[in-house]
Amino acid sequence: MAALLNSFLFISLSLLIFTTAPTLAQSVAPGPTAPPNNITAILEAGGQYTTFIRLLTSTRVDVQLNSQLNNSFNGLTCFAPTDNAFNQLPAGTLNKLTEQEQIEVVLFHVLPRFYTMAMFATTSNPVNTQASGSDGADTLNIISSTSQVNISTGVVNTTITNTLSSSFPLAMYSVDKVLLPYSIFGAKPPAPAPSPKAAKSSNKTPSSAKAPSSSESAGGTGDSNSGINSKGRAMQWTTSFVGLILTSVIFRIF
Ligand SMILES: *[C@@H]1O[C@H](CO)[C@@H](O)[C@H](O)[C@H]1NC(C)=O
Ligand SMILES: *[C@@H]1O[C@H](CO)[C@@H](O)[C@H](O)[C@H]1NC(C)=O
Ligand SMILES: *[C@@H]1O[C@H](CO)[C@@H](O)[C@H](O)[C@H]1NC(C)=O
Ligand SMILES: *[C@@H]1O[C@H](CO)[C@@H](O)[C@H](O)[C@H]1NC(C)=O
Repeated sequence: MAALLNSFLFISLSLLIFTTAPTLAQSVAPGPTAPPNNITAILEAGGQYTTFIRLLTSTRVDVQLNSQLNNSFNGLTCFAPTDNAFNQLPAGTLNKLTEQEQIEVVLFHVLPRFYTMAMFATTSNPVNTQASGSDGADTLNIISSTSQVNISTGVVNTTITNTLSSSFPLAMYSVDKVLLPYSIFGAKPPAPAPSPKAAKSSNKTPSSAKAPSSSESAGGTGDSNSGINSKGRAMQWTTSFVGLILTSVIFRIF
């Protein structure tokens, strides 16, 4: 009985240390001296990204990314299309998308880690984006030489024209084209009305490689995109953590 109690307390304690570690690191981190972890602020300073800013804020992805930056050990990389890039799209391209697809397009411009220009030379393709689900859709091919970094979505090719931010945790690069995901803009007719089961991600190509992710399908909130996925996972951790604490308290009382 005592051994059982001890092991419960040990697990609870380990979890406590494990879950508070990022918080501690965050409170120690130098706040005001570092450049702001604020994607829209950096874009505003750039002066030619008003459409991308509007898209980031209307989808609320800016809030998600900013808070991810605050808590991220890997950092983020963002490809920012210029206003000119959005102007090149056929009229109504964005307005025709559902809200979920707009979120997907924005997240498609974000990589879940910090890349310097030099690091692109050693990335292996395909590169996951924040829009990549467990099925591996919505990836980019990035090919770089000493002087150029080319990005291909399978629908558009573009090249990095300018560096807007290169200090960890946020790398931000300007691009001359909107990165259109193949899963939405690829050469195929628009998907028919989703069946209840396909509602999970109506805009993604069904993939036979989905099998390993079957455990994920139980997570209620983890379906719309990877950012929300990690939030859902954090929620699960918190829930099991609280559960363990309660269990150990009960064991202590009886
Ligand atoms: C980020 O910057 C924008 C524009 O500069 C500002 O409106 C917003 O409040 C900032 N967000 C945070 C979390 O500081
Ligand atoms: C990020 O952290 C800074 C300071 O730690 C804080 O001022 C800011 O509001 C945070 N932003 C978000 C989006 O959580
Ligand atoms: C990048 O694309 C440009 C234009 O299509 C091409 O000329 C160049 O060779 C490409 N660079 C690399 C490293 O693939
Ligand atoms: C993008 O570049 C690849 C080769 O790098 C080429 O095969 C493909 O046709 C290009 N696609 C477009 C839309 O230009």
